[in-house]
Amino acid sequence: MARIAVIPGDGIGPEVIREALKVGQEVAARFDLELQFETVRLDADTYLSTGTALPPETFERLRDEFDAILLGALGDERVPDMAHLRGVLLGLRSGLDLFVNLRPVKLLHEDLCPLKGRGCDAVCFEIVRENTEGAYCGLGGTLRRGTEAEIAIEQDVNTRRGVERILRFAFERAGSWPRRRLCMADKSNILVHGHGLWKRVFDSLREEYPQIRARHLYIDALVMEMVRDPSQFEVIVTCNLFGDIVSDLGAQLQGGMGMAASANTCPDSGAGLFEPVHGSAPGLVGGGLANPMATILSLSMLLAHLGHEMAAAQVEAAVVATLEGGRCTPDVGGTATTAQVGDEVAVRVGSTAVT
Ligand code: IPM
Ligand code: MN
Repeated sequence: MARIAVIPGDGIGPEVIREALKVGQEVAARFDLELQFETVRLDADTYLSTGTALPPETFERLRDEFDAILLGALGDERVPDMAHLRGVLLGLRSGLDLFVNLRPVKLLHEDLCPLKGRGCDAVCFEIVRENTEGAYCGLGGTLRRGTEAEIAIEQDVNTRRGVERILRFAFERAGSWPRRRLCMADKSNILVHGHGLWKRVFDSLREEYPQIRARHLYIDALVMEMVRDPSQFEVIVTCNLFGDIVSDLGAQLQGGMGMAASANTCPDSGAGLFEPVHGSAPGLVGGGLANPMATILSLSMLLAHLGHEMAAAQVEAAVVATLEGGRCTPDVGGTATTAQVGDEVAVRVGSTAVT
Protein backbone atom coordinates (compact mmCIF):
# COMPACT_ATOMS: atom_id res chain seq x y z
CA MET A 1 0.00 0.00 0.00
CA ALA A 2 1.45 3.35 -1.06
CA ARG A 3 0.24 6.38 0.84
CA ILE A 4 0.12 9.60 -1.13
CA ALA A 5 -0.42 12.95 0.55
CA VAL A 6 -2.43 15.30 -1.62
CA ILE A 7 -2.09 19.05 -1.04
CA PRO A 8 -4.69 20.81 -3.22
CA GLY A 9 -3.43 24.28 -2.22
CA ASP A 10 -4.82 27.56 -3.55
CA GLY A 11 -6.42 28.98 -6.68
CA ILE A 12 -6.81 26.39 -9.40
CA GLY A 13 -4.88 23.86 -7.27
CA PRO A 14 -8.00 22.06 -5.97
CA GLU A 15 -9.53 21.99 -9.49
CA VAL A 16 -6.54 20.37 -11.17
CA ILE A 17 -5.96 18.02 -8.24
CA ARG A 18 -9.55 16.76 -8.47
CA GLU A 19 -8.92 15.67 -12.06
CA ALA A 20 -5.57 14.09 -11.25
CA LEU A 21 -7.26 12.06 -8.52
CA LYS A 22 -9.91 10.82 -10.97
CA VAL A 23 -7.09 9.58 -13.16
CA GLY A 24 -5.26 8.18 -10.12
CA GLN A 25 -8.29 6.12 -9.05
CA GLU A 26 -8.77 4.81 -12.58
CA VAL A 27 -5.14 3.83 -13.07
CA ALA A 28 -5.09 2.15 -9.66
CA ALA A 29 -8.11 0.06 -10.65
CA ARG A 30 -6.73 -0.87 -14.06
CA PHE A 31 -3.28 -1.86 -12.78
CA ASP A 32 -4.43 -3.24 -9.47
CA LEU A 33 -2.31 -0.77 -7.52
CA GLU A 34 -2.88 -0.14 -3.87
CA LEU A 35 -2.76 3.61 -3.72
CA GLN A 36 -4.21 5.57 -0.85
CA PHE A 37 -4.67 9.28 -1.47
CA GLU A 38 -5.08 11.42 1.62
CA THR A 39 -5.76 15.16 1.57
CA VAL A 40 -3.49 17.37 3.65
CA ARG A 41 -4.52 20.99 3.88
CA LEU A 42 -1.73 23.51 3.51
CA ASP A 43 -2.94 26.67 1.83
CA ALA A 44 -3.53 30.38 2.31
CA ASP A 45 -6.56 29.75 4.54
CA THR A 46 -4.62 27.54 6.92
CA TYR A 47 -1.80 30.08 6.99
CA LEU A 48 -4.14 33.01 7.62
CA SER A 49 -5.98 31.19 10.38
CA THR A 50 -2.98 29.62 12.14
CA GLY A 51 -0.19 32.08 11.27
CA THR A 52 2.07 29.18 10.29
CA ALA A 53 2.73 28.06 6.72
CA LEU A 54 4.01 24.57 7.46
CA PRO A 55 3.26 23.52 11.04
CA PRO A 56 5.99 21.19 12.40
CA GLU A 57 3.51 18.36 13.05
CA THR A 58 2.25 18.52 9.46
CA PHE A 59 5.82 18.50 8.19
CA GLU A 60 6.61 15.46 10.31
CA ARG A 61 3.52 13.62 9.07
CA LEU A 62 4.43 14.37 5.48
CA ARG A 63 7.97 13.16 6.12
CA ASP A 64 7.16 10.04 8.10
CA GLU A 65 3.77 8.75 7.02
CA PHE A 66 3.67 9.12 3.24
CA ASP A 67 5.45 7.61 0.27
CA ALA A 68 4.97 10.66 -1.94
CA ILE A 69 3.27 14.06 -2.09
CA LEU A 70 1.12 15.47 -4.89
CA LEU A 71 0.71 19.25 -4.78
CA GLY A 72 -1.70 21.42 -6.81
CA ALA A 73 -0.58 25.02 -6.57
CA LEU A 74 0.07 27.69 -3.95
CA GLY A 75 -0.37 31.45 -4.01
CA ASP A 76 -3.12 33.78 -2.87
CA GLU A 77 -3.36 37.53 -3.10
CA ARG A 78 -4.45 37.75 0.55
CA VAL A 79 -0.87 36.79 1.40
CA PRO A 80 0.84 39.55 -0.57
CA ASP A 81 4.43 38.59 0.15
CA MET A 82 3.75 34.92 -0.66
CA ALA A 83 5.01 33.91 2.76
CA HIS A 84 2.95 30.72 2.88
CA LEU A 85 4.04 29.71 -0.61
CA ARG A 86 7.68 29.99 0.35
CA GLY A 87 7.00 28.40 3.71
CA VAL A 88 5.27 25.34 2.28
CA LEU A 89 7.06 24.77 -1.00
CA LEU A 90 10.56 25.84 -0.06
CA GLY A 91 9.98 24.37 3.41
CA LEU A 92 9.27 20.95 1.91
CA ARG A 93 12.01 21.18 -0.70
CA SER A 94 14.65 21.97 1.88
CA GLY A 95 13.11 20.13 4.85
CA LEU A 96 12.85 16.86 2.91
CA ASP A 97 16.15 17.60 1.16
CA LEU A 98 14.48 17.27 -2.25
CA PHE A 99 17.61 18.37 -4.05
CA VAL A 100 16.56 17.22 -7.52
CA ASN A 101 13.90 19.13 -9.39
CA LEU A 102 13.28 17.15 -12.57
CA ARG A 103 11.31 19.00 -15.21
CA PRO A 104 10.67 17.12 -18.43
CA VAL A 105 10.26 19.16 -21.58
CA LYS A 106 8.41 16.74 -23.80
CA LEU A 107 6.21 17.87 -26.64
CA LEU A 108 3.20 15.53 -26.64
CA HIS A 109 1.46 16.97 -29.70
CA GLU A 110 3.21 18.83 -32.49
CA ASP A 111 0.53 21.54 -32.73
CA LEU A 112 1.47 22.72 -29.26
CA CYS A 113 5.01 23.83 -30.04
CA PRO A 114 5.39 27.55 -30.75
CA LEU A 115 8.53 26.93 -32.81
CA LYS A 116 8.01 26.73 -36.56
CA GLY A 117 8.28 23.25 -38.04
CA ARG A 118 9.24 21.45 -34.82
CA GLY A 119 7.68 18.10 -34.12
CA CYS A 120 7.65 15.89 -31.05
CA ASP A 121 11.07 14.41 -31.89
CA ALA A 122 12.66 17.85 -31.69
CA VAL A 123 11.40 18.73 -28.22
CA CYS A 124 12.24 15.90 -25.87
CA PHE A 125 14.66 16.61 -23.06
CA GLU A 126 14.69 17.21 -19.34
CA ILE A 127 15.86 19.92 -17.03
CA VAL A 128 17.58 18.91 -13.80
CA ARG A 129 17.29 21.89 -11.50
CA GLU A 130 19.24 22.08 -8.24
CA ASN A 131 16.50 22.53 -5.67
CA THR A 132 17.89 23.33 -2.24
CA GLU A 133 20.62 25.96 -2.63
CA GLY A 134 21.59 28.98 -4.71
CA ALA A 135 19.48 32.11 -4.45
CA TYR A 136 16.64 30.20 -2.76
CA CYS A 137 18.19 29.98 0.70
CA GLY A 138 16.82 33.31 1.85
CA LEU A 139 20.22 34.40 3.06
CA GLY A 140 20.75 38.13 2.91
CA GLY A 141 19.42 41.30 4.35
CA THR A 142 18.33 44.85 3.93
CA LEU A 143 19.95 47.91 5.44
CA ARG A 144 18.40 51.37 5.68
CA ARG A 145 15.16 49.99 4.35
CA GLY A 146 12.91 52.45 2.53
CA THR A 147 15.56 55.18 2.33
CA GLU A 148 17.47 56.49 -0.67
CA ALA A 149 20.49 54.73 0.75
CA GLU A 150 18.85 51.32 0.96
CA ILE A 151 21.11 48.31 0.50
CA ALA A 152 19.60 44.93 -0.33
CA ILE A 153 21.74 41.82 -0.45
CA GLU A 154 20.67 38.36 -1.59
CA GLN A 155 23.25 35.64 -1.21
CA ASP A 156 23.84 32.83 -3.66
CA VAL A 157 24.76 29.70 -1.73
CA ASN A 158 26.73 26.94 -3.45
CA THR A 159 28.23 24.10 -1.46
CA ARG A 160 30.57 21.51 -2.93
CA ARG A 161 28.34 18.75 -1.59
CA GLY A 162 25.21 20.35 -3.07
CA VAL A 163 26.81 21.02 -6.43
CA GLU A 164 28.45 17.63 -6.69
CA ARG A 165 25.34 15.63 -5.85
CA ILE A 166 23.14 17.37 -8.43
CA LEU A 167 25.80 17.18 -11.14
CA ARG A 168 26.42 13.52 -10.38
CA PHE A 169 22.68 12.85 -10.57
CA ALA A 170 22.60 14.58 -13.98
CA PHE A 171 25.58 12.57 -15.30
CA GLU A 172 23.91 9.34 -14.20
CA ARG A 173 20.62 10.43 -15.72
CA ALA A 174 22.26 11.35 -19.05
CA GLY A 175 23.54 7.78 -19.24
CA SER A 176 20.00 6.53 -19.74
CA TRP A 177 19.30 8.79 -22.75
CA PRO A 178 19.93 7.44 -26.27
CA ARG A 179 22.71 9.90 -27.16
CA ARG A 180 23.97 10.31 -23.58
CA ARG A 181 24.02 14.09 -23.86
CA LEU A 182 24.39 16.37 -20.89
CA CYS A 183 24.59 20.15 -20.91
CA MET A 184 25.53 22.10 -17.78
CA ALA A 185 24.65 25.79 -17.84
CA ASP A 186 25.98 28.43 -15.47
CA LYS A 187 27.34 31.96 -15.40
CA SER A 188 30.86 31.07 -14.32
CA ASN A 189 32.34 33.81 -16.50
CA ILE A 190 30.88 36.39 -14.08
CA LEU A 191 29.91 34.54 -10.90
CA VAL A 192 33.45 33.29 -10.59
CA HIS A 193 33.16 32.00 -7.04
CA GLY A 194 29.82 30.19 -6.86
CA HIS A 195 29.53 29.17 -10.48
CA GLY A 196 33.26 28.70 -10.71
CA LEU A 197 32.67 25.86 -8.24
CA TRP A 198 30.00 24.39 -10.55
CA LYS A 199 32.40 24.53 -13.48
CA ARG A 200 35.27 22.94 -11.59
CA VAL A 201 33.15 20.09 -10.23
CA PHE A 202 31.60 19.58 -13.67
CA ASP A 203 35.03 19.36 -15.28
CA SER A 204 36.19 16.76 -12.79
CA LEU A 205 33.02 14.66 -13.22
CA ARG A 206 33.48 14.75 -17.00
CA GLU A 207 36.66 12.77 -16.51
CA GLU A 208 34.86 10.29 -14.32
CA TYR A 209 32.08 9.82 -16.91
CA PRO A 210 33.92 9.68 -20.27
CA GLN A 211 30.94 7.91 -21.86
CA ILE A 212 28.71 10.96 -21.31
CA ARG A 213 28.79 13.61 -24.00
CA ALA A 214 29.08 16.49 -21.59
CA ARG A 215 28.98 20.07 -22.73
CA HIS A 216 29.08 23.40 -20.96
CA LEU A 217 27.13 26.49 -21.98
CA TYR A 218 26.74 29.84 -20.30
CA ILE A 219 23.14 30.30 -19.30
CA ASP A 220 22.49 33.10 -21.79
CA ALA A 221 23.72 30.90 -24.62
CA LEU A 222 21.61 28.02 -23.34
CA VAL A 223 18.33 29.92 -23.58
CA MET A 224 19.20 30.97 -27.11
CA GLU A 225 20.02 27.39 -28.09
CA MET A 226 16.86 26.02 -26.48
CA VAL A 227 14.85 28.16 -28.88
CA ARG A 228 17.11 27.80 -31.92
CA ASP A 229 17.36 24.01 -31.83
CA PRO A 230 15.90 22.17 -28.84
CA SER A 231 16.64 18.80 -30.47
CA GLN A 232 20.31 19.09 -29.44
CA PHE A 233 19.46 18.54 -25.76
CA GLU A 234 18.77 15.48 -23.65
CA VAL A 235 19.63 16.44 -20.07
CA ILE A 236 20.23 20.03 -19.01
CA VAL A 237 21.51 20.65 -15.49
CA THR A 238 21.66 24.02 -13.83
CA CYS A 239 21.34 25.89 -10.54
CA ASN A 240 18.14 26.65 -8.68
CA LEU A 241 17.41 30.13 -10.03
CA PHE A 242 18.43 29.45 -13.62
CA GLY A 243 16.50 26.18 -13.47
CA ASP A 244 13.41 28.09 -12.44
CA ILE A 245 13.74 30.41 -15.42
CA VAL A 246 14.66 27.87 -18.10
CA SER A 247 11.87 25.57 -16.99
CA ASP A 248 9.28 28.20 -17.92
CA LEU A 249 10.92 28.53 -21.31
CA GLY A 250 10.81 24.75 -21.54
CA ALA A 251 7.14 24.80 -20.53
CA GLN A 252 6.33 27.01 -23.51
CA LEU A 253 8.18 24.69 -25.90
CA GLN A 254 5.80 21.90 -24.89
CA GLY A 255 2.56 23.89 -25.05
CA GLY A 256 2.61 26.23 -22.07
CA MET A 257 2.30 26.05 -18.32
CA GLY A 258 -0.72 23.79 -18.58
CA MET A 259 1.51 21.00 -19.88
CA ALA A 260 4.60 21.21 -17.68
CA ALA A 261 5.06 18.63 -14.92
CA SER A 262 7.75 18.28 -12.30
CA ALA A 263 9.21 16.00 -9.67
CA ASN A 264 11.08 17.20 -6.57
CA THR A 265 12.96 14.24 -5.20
CA CYS A 266 15.66 13.12 -2.83
CA PRO A 267 17.24 10.08 -4.49
CA ASP A 268 18.93 9.18 -1.19
CA SER A 269 15.81 8.91 0.97
CA GLY A 270 13.25 8.24 -1.76
CA ALA A 271 11.12 11.22 -0.73
CA GLY A 272 9.24 12.94 -3.54
CA LEU A 273 6.92 15.86 -4.13
CA PHE A 274 5.21 16.09 -7.50
CA GLU A 275 3.61 19.27 -8.80
CA PRO A 276 2.74 21.13 -11.98
CA VAL A 277 5.22 23.89 -12.83
CA HIS A 278 2.37 26.42 -13.02
CA GLY A 279 1.07 28.54 -10.17
CA SER A 280 -2.35 29.07 -8.61
CA ALA A 281 -3.65 31.24 -11.51
CA PRO A 282 -6.33 33.11 -9.53
CA GLY A 283 -7.77 34.56 -12.75
CA LEU A 284 -8.79 31.10 -13.95
CA VAL A 285 -10.49 29.93 -10.76
CA GLY A 286 -13.99 28.55 -11.10
CA GLY A 287 -14.26 28.91 -14.86
CA GLY A 288 -13.36 25.36 -15.79
CA LEU A 289 -10.47 26.84 -17.74
CA ALA A 290 -7.52 25.37 -15.88
CA ASN A 291 -5.66 22.69 -17.80
CA PRO A 292 -5.28 19.67 -15.49
CA MET A 293 -2.77 17.94 -17.76
CA ALA A 294 0.33 19.30 -16.00
CA THR A 295 -0.93 17.86 -12.71
CA ILE A 296 -1.97 14.59 -14.35
CA LEU A 297 1.50 14.32 -15.90
CA SER A 298 3.01 15.05 -12.47
CA LEU A 299 0.93 12.15 -11.14
CA SER A 300 2.47 10.04 -13.91
CA MET A 301 5.93 11.00 -12.62
CA LEU A 302 4.81 10.11 -9.10
CA LEU A 303 3.69 6.66 -10.25
CA ALA A 304 7.02 6.07 -11.97
CA HIS A 305 8.79 7.16 -8.79
CA LEU A 306 6.86 4.54 -6.82
CA GLY A 307 7.99 1.92 -9.32
CA HIS A 308 4.74 1.74 -11.32
CA GLU A 309 6.34 2.39 -14.69
CA MET A 310 3.59 0.80 -16.76
CA ALA A 311 0.87 2.75 -15.00
CA ALA A 312 2.89 5.95 -15.45
CA ALA A 313 3.27 5.29 -19.18
CA GLN A 314 -0.44 4.58 -19.42
CA VAL A 315 -1.33 7.94 -17.87
CA GLU A 316 0.95 9.75 -20.29
CA ALA A 317 -0.47 7.81 -23.23
CA ALA A 318 -3.98 8.77 -22.12
CA VAL A 319 -2.98 12.45 -22.08
CA VAL A 320 -1.53 12.11 -25.59
CA ALA A 321 -4.71 10.39 -26.81
CA THR A 322 -6.83 13.13 -25.24
CA LEU A 323 -4.78 15.80 -27.00
CA GLU A 324 -5.12 13.93 -30.27
CA GLY A 325 -8.87 13.73 -29.78
CA GLY A 326 -8.88 17.50 -29.31
CA ARG A 327 -10.81 17.31 -26.07
CA CYS A 328 -8.69 19.75 -24.14
CA THR A 329 -8.82 23.16 -22.48
CA PRO A 330 -8.54 26.44 -24.45
CA ASP A 331 -4.86 27.02 -23.62
CA VAL A 332 -4.06 23.95 -25.74
CA GLY A 333 -6.58 24.64 -28.47
CA GLY A 334 -9.75 22.93 -27.25
CA THR A 335 -13.07 23.93 -25.75
CA ALA A 336 -13.37 21.33 -22.99
CA THR A 337 -13.54 22.20 -19.30
CA THR A 338 -11.11 21.13 -16.60
CA ALA A 339 -13.50 18.38 -15.47
CA GLN A 340 -14.17 17.15 -19.00
CA VAL A 341 -10.45 16.78 -19.63
CA GLY A 342 -10.10 14.83 -16.38
CA ASP A 343 -13.00 12.55 -17.39
CA GLU A 344 -11.53 12.02 -20.82
CA VAL A 345 -8.06 11.17 -19.58
CA ALA A 346 -9.53 8.84 -16.94
CA VAL A 347 -11.59 6.97 -19.56
CA ARG A 348 -8.58 6.67 -21.81
CA VAL A 349 -6.40 5.41 -18.96
CA GLY A 350 -8.79 2.51 -18.83
CA SER A 351 -8.73 1.86 -22.57
CA THR A 352 -5.68 3.24 -24.42
CA ALA A 353 -3.06 0.72 -25.42
CA VAL A 354 0.43 1.75 -24.38
CA THR A 355 2.79 1.76 -27.35
C1 IPM B 1 8.49 26.90 -9.47
C2 IPM B 1 7.92 28.16 -8.87
C3 IPM B 1 8.52 28.36 -7.49
C4 IPM B 1 10.00 28.50 -7.64
C5 IPM B 1 7.96 29.54 -6.73
C6 IPM B 1 6.48 29.52 -6.71
C7 IPM B 1 8.55 29.62 -5.34
O1 IPM B 1 8.10 29.25 -9.70
O2 IPM B 1 8.33 25.83 -8.88
O3 IPM B 1 9.09 26.99 -10.55
O4 IPM B 1 10.52 29.59 -7.91
O5 IPM B 1 10.69 27.48 -7.50
MN1 MN C 1 9.01 28.74 -11.58
